[in-house]
Amino acid sequence: MKIVIGSDHGGYELKKIIKKHLINQNITVDDKGCYSTDSVDYPEIAQAVCNSVAEEKNNLGILICGTGIGMSIAANKIKGIRAGLCHTEIEAKLTRQHNHANVLCLGGRIIGTELAKSIVDKFIITEYSKDKRHLHRVSMLDNSEVKC
Ligand code: RB5
Repeated sequence: MKIVIGSDHGGYELKKIIKKHLINQNITVDDKGCYSTDSVDYPEIAQAVCNSVAEEKNNLGILICGTGIGMSIAANKIKGIRAGLCHTEIEAKLTRQHNHANVLCLGGRIIGTELAKSIVDKFIITEYSKDKRHLHRVSMLDNSEVKC
């Protein structure tokens, strides 16, 4: 399993911290940008991360912008992506279990770094629930996607 990560300028500082946190745990990280605090457009970064996650189903994505909102809107437009914007560990756990989220979105200007690390850890260790209710609802989500 690989983590594909990306941020815009609003999430760049938190992304550096999260990336180091993952590498310290021997987790492979693929960084799709940005690579400085220069202003960039978050939809481009979301597309790069999400296209990669959609192609390699075992991988997970992390997207960070100022609020996490723009990244989550952009991510959820991409076929095969279920992105959850999380501010707490319990949201990270439940969006994995119930929504089968494959991308975690964070707000770099909203949450603190220690909380962000624990949200990331919870997201990564939690498995999809195989409960029929959730499988049915996730298949409804997947079936509602329109091919571009
Ligand atoms: C960039 O200033 C900011 O708009 C962006 O990081 C994000 O918060 C958008 O949703």
